[in-house]
Amino acid sequence: MAGVKELAEGVGRAHPEPLNKSPEQVDVEMEKRKERIEQEIHTNKKRSGSLEIENNYTPVTYDDQYILMVNALKKYFPIKGGMVTKTIGWVKAVDGVTFNLRRGTTMGLVGESGCGKTTTGRAILRLGGEKSGGQVLFNGQEIYDLSPKEMRALRTKMQIIFQDPFSSLSPRLPVGEIIGEAVREHNLVPKSEFNDYIDKVMDDCGLQPFHKDRYPHEFSGGQRQRICIARALALNPEFVVCDEPVSALDVSIQAQIINLLKELQQKRSLTYLFISHDLSVVEHISDVVGVMYLGNLVEYGSTADIFRNPLHPYTKALFSAIPIPDPKAKMNRIVLEGSIPSPANPPSGCKFHTRCAQCMERCKVEAPKQIEVEKDHYVVCHLYDK
Ligand SMILES: Nc1ncnc2c1ncn2[C@@H]1O[C@H](COP(=O)(O)OP(=O)(O)O)[C@@H](O)[C@H]1O
Ligand code: SF4
Ligand SMILES: [Mg+2]
Repeated sequence: MAGVKELAEGVGRAHPEPLNKSPEQVDVEMEKRKERIEQEIHTNKKRSGSLEIENNYTPVTYDDQYILMVNALKKYFPIKGGMVTKTIGWVKAVDGVTFNLRRGTTMGLVGESGCGKTTTGRAILRLGGEKSGGQVLFNGQEIYDLSPKEMRALRTKMQIIFQDPFSSLSPRLPVGEIIGEAVREHNLVPKSEFNDYIDKVMDDCGLQPFHKDRYPHEFSGGQRQRICIARALALNPEFVVCDEPVSALDVSIQAQIINLLKELQQKRSLTYLFISHDLSVVEHISDVVGVMYLGNLVEYGSTADIFRNPLHPYTKALFSAIPIPDPKAKMNRIVLEGSIPSPANPPSGCKFHTRCAQCMERCKVEAPKQIEVEKDHYVVCHLYDK
């Protein structure tokens, strides 16, 4: 087995044999070491399944009402191991996500921490290397087919706003420079109009243009997030991934930023993918909602349908934890047992079966398929199989 030979040789190089050993002794020890490593690789393979990434999907046909069509998208991260760096498994962070997003609308993406929301957002923007499978069509164009130059040109159209406005702003640049840097780089406005353009963007985002010579540390958390929004919008994007944009802010400021995002969406016909673990914020801003669990969408539908009639046991559990403002109202909270399993070794069948109170025998072995329970409201669960 070539891999084992390489590993064994690697071991030999890493730990030179003492000179007083006979060649036979060295051979015997080398043999034992090979066996041990072979065993290790076998166990790791068993643990993480096949190393081949399956990439079977039916390609989608472009429909121009959708700015974004995501089809069976996969993003796996390699797990390196053994004595030499070798891929021994995958972290299946995004494991076959499919949805279409209409122009000028907002899709909320919810789920527990670690379920793959950020990785989905980043993979859609082609940030962080190649995808592991599936399709991402932006205005009908597969973005992973673009050359680096073409991708760079498209970057202005697809932007991202991060959770932590402080660490994503360079502390050494004045705010006007932060907002205008990429505008200049992409030559978006003539030199003579540059200053007026930045003033206008700042004004649109609720920032005082005369503050453009100040530095990020001179602003509050809410204002810093406005700077990040201004920086993204200065490029005149069509689509923005908002990755937990208000999670680090005080509740009173959160509403202001959400309202600003909504206002800018109207003014500029923006489309958002709004990632959050806060369901009340998502309800407020989204037209459609996707619920994610361990790398997959388990439910997808209009915000009204999902909040009125949650179907998947995981969605029901998530929603049962939303605080009710009325202190007399009884909360029927569904407590999820255990924590989210590792995406490096997801459970067989339905990935949620280890935590599902309604788990049946077939759930442990058979992965459920997506079912349309009511118009445009989809769930991935055997309970809804006819
Ligand atoms: N660069 C990376 N390398 C390896 N694993 C990663 C990387 N980025 C994210 N992951 C893993 O992928 C899973 C999903 O992460 P993430 O997309 O950040 O989840 P969320 O945003 O929902 O909290 C997690 O288990 C995380 O540890
Ligand atoms: S398929 Fe089975 S285990 Fe999975 S959510 Fe539905 S009932 Fe629960
Ligand atoms: Mg995240």
